[in-house]
Amino acid sequence: MTTAQDEDLLAGFEATLARHERIEPRDWMPERYRRTLVRQIAQHAHSEIIGMQPEGNWITRAPSLRRKAILLAKVQDEAGHGLYLYSACETLGTSRRELTEMLISGKQKYSSIFNYPTLSYADVGTIGWLVDGAAICNQVPLCRTSYGPYGRSMIRICKEESFHQRQGFELLATMMRGSDEQRAMVQESVDRFWWPALMMFGPPDAESPNTAQSMAWGIKRDTNDELRQKFVDMSVPQARALGVTLPDPDLVWNQERGHHDFAQPDWEEFAAVVAGGGPCNAQRVAHRREAHENGAWVREAAAAFAARQFPVAEEPAPASASKPPQEQEQERES
Ligand SMILES: [Fe+2]
Ligand SMILES: [Fe+2]
Repeated sequence: MTTAQDEDLLAGFEATLARHERIEPRDWMPERYRRTLVRQIAQHAHSEIIGMQPEGNWITRAPSLRRKAILLAKVQDEAGHGLYLYSACETLGTSRRELTEMLISGKQKYSSIFNYPTLSYADVGTIGWLVDGAAICNQVPLCRTSYGPYGRSMIRICKEESFHQRQGFELLATMMRGSDEQRAMVQESVDRFWWPALMMFGPPDAESPNTAQSMAWGIKRDTNDELRQKFVDMSVPQARALGVTLPDPDLVWNQERGHHDFAQPDWEEFAAVVAGGGPCNAQRVAHRREAHENGAWVREAAAAFAARQFPVAEEPAPASASKPPQEQEQERES
């Protein structure tokens, strides 16, 4: 802060947060608040877009027309979530083109869960149940986040995420009522996705240096460990209802705490996947880059169409220049 005016602006910003009111795009905000938001919203938007790939992989192989229609609608919802979030990010002064560039060049991240493969149709159910379930735990508190456009987009997104979670649970419940082979398929899928789902909340609080600042700014409302606990407590009775076993021998109800105790995921694996070493990192980004390049003609056509619909008004030329050359000659002669 250099001047009294800057201090006034900062005091106004902090007073807005203290009143639990929203910060809007035209309001003054500290540069670090803006940068933190761009990073968080972009990472969220990229996760929605990249997250279309593991499930999109099964659209052509859905076992029935009903399952295909549900999966198509779900994957399409994720595209919509990505677009709301890119729009929210644009209100902070970073364009969708820049954000896409940062994703396909590896400068910005997306959720590590989408770097795991989908090996069976049960994975569609497990992703809906556990991955969208974890997303709901993360995102419901973000409906009250301090930045207006982000909070408002989250309200709409959360409504759709709860449909995603239910369709996943319903698919797994149907398979669990089927054959032994189908039940084994569900269990195998849950065994693979349980630990990566726990990683979705980010590293333990002690290793999450940005959490305190993000909570002070009202960008984040709960810590990573609080959200992880909530997710485990929510998932245990659902697993019981399904008849699947969560692959954690340490998972047990702790009467004193009023929560489940559970084991930590392999944080070394998490670090390796975030650093680009997961089973599908290269494939996911390459696929996104290819789709972006193949879509160049669509962007060009849309820009050309927009230019024709809304031609940019040309500046009026000086009076003499707008007359035909012959008249200009005559004026000079007279
Ligand atoms: Fe989503
Ligand atoms: Fe979703």
